[in-house]
Amino acid sequence: MGKVIAGISMSLDGFVTGPNVTRDQQLGDGGAVLHRWLWQPDRLDSELLASMRGGVGAILMGRRSYDLAEGDGGWGDGGPAGPVPCFVVTHRVPEPETVRARDVFTFVTDGVRSAVEQARAAAGDKVVGVHGASITQQCLAAGLMDELQVHLVPVLLGSGTRLFDHLGGQVALERTEVIDSPNATHLHYRVINTPR
Ligand SMILES: NC(=O)c1ccc[n+]([C@@H]2O[C@H](COP(=O)([O-])OP(=O)(O)OC[C@H]3O[C@@H](n4cnc5c(N)ncnc54)[C@H](OP(=O)(O)O)[C@@H]3O)[C@@H](O)[C@H]2O)c1
Repeated sequence: MGKVIAGISMSLDGFVTGPNVTRDQQLGDGGAVLHRWLWQPDRLDSELLASMRGGVGAILMGRRSYDLAEGDGGWGDGGPAGPVPCFVVTHRVPEPETVRARDVFTFVTDGVRSAVEQARAAAGDKVVGVHGASITQQCLAAGLMDELQVHLVPVLLGSGTRLFDHLGGQVALERTEVIDSPNATHLHYRVINTPR
């Protein structure tokens, strides 16, 4: 089975978006800087991106991420990683006719553990990529995450969506790699999952 890995860009003060997230501004006020390393990569960022390419076999995300990016101006006819299967954890399954890429999206209403199981089965030996703050925290809290990649961006956003405010307890990490580019310090950790 492949690993479950969250990769997320975070400000130095712990925010993965600024305030006022909208469909037109999915990273909130001032939050676009969090993804500068993706859109204006330097050599080290580019090397990291190249090493990640093709390795993702399924995506796991929450309903807010889906609602923000699906539709006009969103992911086109696929999901966030093209035709890769995408599992959306939600309380509200959308009407099928509103889902454009029906072969890509599966809506999971029985929790994050079930979503991880389904995503791992779909991904085979490839990585399950976890998106967004809520699902990342739930996977960490439930002992379902294998690795955490935080792209630490040199900015203080002051407010927005915090990455680590609902963990509910301690999570031990082992740092496995640090790649320090001017855009972001890419911090890779293995999650040491101990039974809670
Ligand atoms: N900085 C970065 O690198 C980065 C990367 C990716 C995304 N983002 C940003 O992160 C934000 C999205 O993350 P988020 O944490 O705010 O929201 P999210 O995880 O996308 O969605 C949260 C929603 O998912 C549903 N949900 C979550 N857990 C559930 C559960 N256990 N059971 C049933 N439903 C559940 C709930 O919606 P319902 O109750 O409505 O179903 C919940 O309100 C976006 O603004 C996006 O742009 C940032």
